[in-house]
Amino acid sequence: MEIDRRAFIASLGGAAAVAAMDHEAKAEALEHYMEDQLDQQVAANQGGQPDKFPTVAEIEAQIETRPFRRGTGGVFTGQRGQNVKKITPMPDKPTLKDFFELRFAPANHVLQSATRALKTGMSEEITLACLLHDCVLSLIKPDHGWWGAQLFEPYIPEKSAFAIRYHQTLRFFPDEQAGYEYPDQYYRIFGHDYTPPQYIQDTYKMLKNHKWYMEPRLVTVNDLYAFDPNAKVTIEPFTDIIGRHFKQPKEGLGYDNSPSAHMWRTLARPDNPL
Ligand SMILES: [Fe+2]
Ligand SMILES: [Fe+2]
Repeated sequence: MEIDRRAFIASLGGAAAVAAMDHEAKAEALEHYMEDQLDQQVAANQGGQPDKFPTVAEIEAQIETRPFRRGTGGVFTGQRGQNVKKITPMPDKPTLKDFFELRFAPANHVLQSATRALKTGMSEEITLACLLHDCVLSLIKPDHGWWGAQLFEPYIPEKSAFAIRYHQTLRFFPDEQAGYEYPDQYYRIFGHDYTPPQYIQDTYKMLKNHKWYMEPRLVTVNDLYAFDPNAKVTIEPFTDIIGRHFKQPKEGLGYDNSPSAHMWRTLARPDNPL
């Protein structure tokens, strides 16, 4: 595969950033870059379909090739094998918008999901759930539906928290009528022969008969991985919905003694050793 050196160096943040990387980090960055390029080429050649998804065993075999676990929250790892950067301190009384700008950024995925929810006429509770549904991935990844709901629960409508908690489960189960297919991305990240664990199956059974089934289902319908890289999305169009439905604590997120305040503080100071 031909490497466009300029594009590669730019993808790492420029020549100075590359110069500061040690040999191993550079090698890892190059490998990630080539993988991405390859995925893109394959997808372009085959109308979005990579030719071969890994197996569960292949994915497991990669575990000991990394210095971190796949479940590590985004604020704790560097991008593409680079060292982490100094983090901008949060203001004294941080708001949701501050966390979006300083910790969840670029947040393209959730902003695009919420933008789609707005365009498709979802309720404000669902639109808010779409906006927040994956933010907790900055903190932790396994069971992100449950963690995400817990993080936001003290501040948002019950329906939005329900939708966030259970979108994770419904992502594994297609619903033709609702217009939701099993995502190719999951064949790639879990393996094509993956079956969700029993607790996810049990949760799905519970949800199928739940009066609020459609709340998390609509989050999955708006939860797309096919992003338009040129789309400019910001949090501004959601200011009113946040204002109406997000109970911003006057002390700031992290300092209001809510059941999830410590989670906000951990996001604020991920460099703390204890
Ligand atoms: Fe998610
Ligand atoms: Fe998502």
